[in-house]
Amino acid sequence: MTITTQLIDGKAVAAQLRAEVKTQAAALSFKPGLAVVLVGEDPASQVYVSHKIKACEEAGFDSRLIRLPADATQADLLAQVAALNVDAAMHGILVQMPLPKHMDAQAVIAAINPNKDVDGFHVANAGALMTGAPRLVPCTPLGVMKLLEIAGVQLRGAHAVVVGASNIVGKPQALLLQAAGATVTICNSKTRDLQAHLKMADVVVAAVGRPNFITGSMLKAGAVVMDVGINRNELGKLCGDVDTASCMGIASAITPVPGGVGPMTIALLLANTLKAATL
Ligand code: GUN
Repeated sequence: MTITTQLIDGKAVAAQLRAEVKTQAAALSFKPGLAVVLVGEDPASQVYVSHKIKACEEAGFDSRLIRLPADATQADLLAQVAALNVDAAMHGILVQMPLPKHMDAQAVIAAINPNKDVDGFHVANAGALMTGAPRLVPCTPLGVMKLLEIAGVQLRGAHAVVVGASNIVGKPQALLLQAAGATVTICNSKTRDLQAHLKMADVVVAAVGRPNFITGSMLKAGAVVMDVGINRNELGKLCGDVDTASCMGIASAITPVPGGVGPMTIALLLANTLKAATL
């Protein structure tokens, strides 16, 4: 049986979603506002943050970028968060991760008003998702669910394997897939015989942060592959956690890197900010 592998165009889906969010925001009597806090000079974080601010402008949102130096103290950062928590113009607060090593990320996340936690990282939002009453849900896993829905993937009764168990992607992704009726296995970079798990997967979500970690020969024929990875290979070229080329003719559908899940994260960030603005 020959399989034609569909490339899922996340860029197009994200553009459509962003247009919808813009229309909904324009119908409000006020502008949704997002505050983005960046600590330090991490080059990748600077790029991500500038994309987030630009996306806000394009959606007609207010945005504010707050930059703190790499040697700012935890108290400096907590003071910024406390000020934003009571700032009526800022409906969403996003503290870009990773934070410098001398800071306690969990303590910072815990200080964010859960109703403004557009990342969905606060324990109140993580707990709400876990107990089946989701409020603000992490953007990247939500983007993956949207792409699966648009690609017409049947999740009820399907076996989904999530590779990676981070709080940002893997864990919330597993909960969302489970809530959609999938049987979910959570693997990680150390899983013994990862291939044995992947061979049973109808849906694979790769969020392990290792370039080209998963190859086509590890998959079940017809699997749907969602590649969350954004890595650089040995040549410095952007690549995912999945070796896309080797999956062609094996997977039924796959998200490319770039242009797959990545653009969805920003679209869902805007959707979450709009949601927070109307909570
Ligand atoms: N760093 C990488 N991804 C994310 C994200 O979704 N939110 C935040 N705050 N930091 C990140």
